[in-house]
Amino acid sequence: MIDINLFLHYQPPADLLRDRIIVITGAGDGIGKTAALTFARFGATVVLLGRTLAKLERVYDEIEAAGGPKPAIFPINFEGAAAQDYEQLRSALANEFGHIDGLLHNASALGARTPIGQYSLSDWQKVMQVNVTAPFLLTRALLPLLQKSADGRILFTGSSVGVRGRAYWGAYAVSKGATETLMEVLADELEATSVRVNSINPGAVRTAMRASAYPAEDPNTVTPPEAIMNRYLYLFGPDGKAVHGQQLDAQPKA
Ligand SMILES: NC(=O)c1ccc[n+]([C@@H]2O[C@H](COP(=O)([O-])OP(=O)(O)OC[C@H]3O[C@@H](n4cnc5c(N)ncnc54)[C@H](OP(=O)(O)O)[C@@H]3O)[C@@H](O)[C@H]2O)c1
Repeated sequence: MIDINLFLHYQPPADLLRDRIIVITGAGDGIGKTAALTFARFGATVVLLGRTLAKLERVYDEIEAAGGPKPAIFPINFEGAAAQDYEQLRSALANEFGHIDGLLHNASALGARTPIGQYSLSDWQKVMQVNVTAPFLLTRALLPLLQKSADGRILFTGSSVGVRGRAYWGAYAVSKGATETLMEVLADELEATSVRVNSINPGAVRTAMRASAYPAEDPNTVTPPEAIMNRYLYLFGPDGKAVHGQQLDAQPKA
């Protein structure tokens, strides 16, 4: 079980993630970018996955300029990536590091905000591919490397609409529901291993995706990604070792 108070108010030591190798998807922007910068600041070697190379390079440069451990970049578009692309990633990471200690499934497509009656098949397939099939393929490819870690972690990213569906959230809501189920299946399968598996719902966070979903909202009223990072650090560091198979809210309602 998780100590919610400790999780929400966690004060990480400066070297929390030293010597840990953590793969982050969607690391070029939003929450993933902030996670990459934060994990590197706490000592992790981060592997930056995303579809826009220029964004990944900017994160890489920022980490280097801050004196963090040298990151790695692997550009990948989850919309079109095939099983062999994931195998290629696994062999590149196996050659470079031999193992990994963490995998943050963070990249997602929002898709259209339209009723199911008008939802296009192509949009549906794209959202399910990026949000469900890609995390499945990535998990399957990287699991052998995570199982070589003494303390492996997988964190999926959920959403409130994946727990309770709401009108006009379409495939995004369905994909986030599937994400929770994938997390639970995997957590059950890995119960007796050294890999811990959970999901986190970031809550409302000031990013491009949030602005796209809520165009009329003043971004200054929304929590910045930095404010929830101590909860991500808790789950990827040694203090989060006992947490397994849980759906966590980074910003629980009071
Ligand atoms: N922000 C919120 O309020 C909120 C609330 C609940 C849940 N979430 C979840 O939190 C996670 C992060 O969201 P965010 O708000 O940080 O979103 P964001 O700012 O839009 O960032 C999403 C990241 O995913 C990447 N991505 C999207 N499609 C991709 C693809 N086909 N292949 C590879 N990478 C792809 C994007 O790459 P590019 O930059 O190259 O486009 C971007 O780096 C998501 O899982 C989201 O569902 C967010």
